[in-house]
Amino acid sequence: MTLFFFIALLLIAVIALYEIMSMVWPLQIEKIWKVLLSTLLLTAAFKEVIFRYLGGKMFFAPLLPRWLILTGALMFNFFVLALFLAVLKDVIWLTWKFCRALGMTSRSFPAGEASLFAAAIALFLTLYGTWEAIRVPDVTVHDVYLPGLAKEFEGTKIVLLVDLHASALNRKPFIQSIVDKTNILSPDIILIPGDFVDGPVEERKNDLEPLSTLNAALGVFGSSGNHEYYSGYEEWKKQLSKYGVMILENEHVMLTSNDSNLVIAGIPDQQGANLKGNGTLSFEAPNVEKALQGAPNNAPVILMAHRPETVKKNAQAGIALQVSGHTHGGLMPFIGQLIAFFNGGYIRGWYNVGTTNLYVSRGTSLWSGFPMRLMDPAEITLFVLHSQEK
Ligand SMILES: [Fe+2]
Repeated sequence: MTLFFFIALLLIAVIALYEIMSMVWPLQIEKIWKVLLSTLLLTAAFKEVIFRYLGGKMFFAPLLPRWLILTGALMFNFFVLALFLAVLKDVIWLTWKFCRALGMTSRSFPAGEASLFAAAIALFLTLYGTWEAIRVPDVTVHDVYLPGLAKEFEGTKIVLLVDLHASALNRKPFIQSIVDKTNILSPDIILIPGDFVDGPVEERKNDLEPLSTLNAALGVFGSSGNHEYYSGYEEWKKQLSKYGVMILENEHVMLTSNDSNLVIAGIPDQQGANLKGNGTLSFEAPNVEKALQGAPNNAPVILMAHRPETVKKNAQAGIALQVSGHTHGGLMPFIGQLIAFFNGGYIRGWYNVGTTNLYVSRGTSLWSGFPMRLMDPAEITLFVLHSQEK
């Protein structure tokens, strides 16, 4: 057991004990029920450890049965939300105590009722946030001004799908619904910059098979995310090409209409290069200069890069638009700030970096480890390109 893992377990245990003391013990119920609820909270807290034991070492065990992943997710989501509610309740309790000491009230704090109320809110948010995380996303539409865009490409429709995370939680019918919703938009180009899947090809190829029915007049292009490297990147690259998704690995394609060009480029995720320590692997690191070798100077470039913070380097190469994902939009308040911190401050929506526009999608789906979305719905993103600012 690494020191980091040990500290993480200790921290989780402390949080679980705090929640039990704050939320369960003040409840006015029989002791046997308190013991039962405390056991459930402890189980929820150590969900990842239990899933690792049941489902193997893969990140958050995406191969376990769907009902088990969903049950575990509901329990863990409640554990996370109950922490915020417990802290809020205890701040009110301390304020009440302070006011009582000053003689502002003689009533004692209704601890049992407050704990019950906080737990009820946590339960409601758990059910709503989990539903929001696993439902088929809505379409968001953006008009995008690309300097230098030729009139031939005026009105070009690009659909961005990212973070599909096909897993035991996100099965074939879910992916098919996303594909159907995408095709209705009649896109010219479809871009999928990574995190297609959690799990090896043999387990998940059926779930991603609907990608083969994606319809885009000028092509369907992708680039790798970090999760492809946990799932067998080389095999997935071949499988995705069978589905008609062209993976761009430090490469570009030039779309030409009359004598005008539009460049679509892709760089791989850094995770592949990080795995190079294993002697059998030789994945490329992201290299925007290599991706653009031979591209014409006067054509606007749209770059797929899974992680948004890569824009700081990519912008120097004169990219017009970078599309990214990875952050899942932050998932929920407070946790979103933490995710932004680890992603160069980029979390969702539009950013200007030099002359480059960066769009960070909230993700079309998300991974099975923490399926939770509050004030952060998933999205299928439609860009309509324009040569003039609207
Ligand atoms: Fe990712």
